[in-house]
Amino acid sequence: MVPLRLAAAVGLGLLLGGCAAEDEGDPILPPKDAAAPPRLARPLGAAVSARPAREDRDYLRAFASNFTSMTPENEMKWAIVHPDRDRYAFGEADALVDLGRGLGKRVRGHTLVWDLQLPKWVSERDWEAPELRRVLVDHVKTVASHFRGRVAQWDVVNEPFLPSGRLKKNVFSRVLGPGYIALAFRAARSADPRAKLFLNENYSEHPGPKQDALVRLAASLRRRGVPLDGVGLQSHTTAESAPGAARLARTMRRFARLGLDVEITELDVALARGASLGPQARAYGAAARACAAEPRCTGLTVWGVTDRWSWIGADKRPLPLDGRGRPKPALGALKDAF
Ligand code: G3I
Repeated sequence: MVPLRLAAAVGLGLLLGGCAAEDEGDPILPPKDAAAPPRLARPLGAAVSARPAREDRDYLRAFASNFTSMTPENEMKWAIVHPDRDRYAFGEADALVDLGRGLGKRVRGHTLVWDLQLPKWVSERDWEAPELRRVLVDHVKTVASHFRGRVAQWDVVNEPFLPSGRLKKNVFSRVLGPGYIALAFRAARSADPRAKLFLNENYSEHPGPKQDALVRLAASLRRRGVPLDGVGLQSHTTAESAPGAARLARTMRRFARLGLDVEITELDVALARGASLGPQARAYGAAARACAAEPRCTGLTVWGVTDRWSWIGADKRPLPLDGRGRPKPALGALKDAF
């Protein structure tokens, strides 16, 4: 079903002679020239940002035509949706969620609690524990309620660990201790009982202390009845250091054995200058094959749409579509595996 806001905008656009609204928070109109996305065995997602979605037709068409799931890249983060203590600002996140749902995509919410992209009113204050606990719970419940029924999954807590496997010392862990994680999951479940709740972490695809710590935390949350449904493996990597399918499959099994879903949430494969595209395609293919072979793997998302707008820089050519939205061998490898 086309959301009401979107339908109204399309109508208005026609009245105004086809001009699309471009301002922050205004609807982002779906492209008219998109192909139908492929039918795939698992959701294949992309992180989407409002600015390129508004400014770059190749980007929007590439997203609409090739992917079946969307993660807003920045627009749901704390600093953006809750910039002042007494003000929430959902405009850009709503515009993306409406776009994604209007195009029939699954939407992953990213992210409720993270120590980056946190507004200064949270990160730079000396909190007493009871007050910060109230602020955290209020934030999680308000955001998760706002998107209830529209977001299929949430990255509830993002990147809690250091490479050593110790918990990061962020404002939440310093003031509330490690219990901030369970608190966030419980608040998210109470606000949106149907969304799948994920713990999302980077650089834990390879075996090592961080992966072990993530397994221990996931197991302990499950044991204590904390509502954790899945673990997200971000998978920012390079063509040289990307894990093979067997290694990724073993990693996923560790979480699946705990009764959890697992998902590759932020895959990108950076290339050195002049490097050929073959190894990159093999890295993408390996990740998708590992996911396709694991019954608990519920999807794979790439972190961006086209190389032009990648957070790591267009020169790294890290995505499965080039700067103009043309498919690279990596896209074929993903689709073949799914
Ligand atoms: O939109 C503002 C713009 O108004 C301003 O003029 C400009 C000047 O710096 O900044 C723009 O915001 C930037 C934003 O991306 C949108 O482009 C921020 O500075 C920049 O910090 C932000 O970077 C994002 C990064 O998270 C922040 O840590 C990346 O786009 C985003 O891809 C990246 O995503 C993270 C995941 O959320 C978590 N896992 C790692 C992943 C990659 O770092």
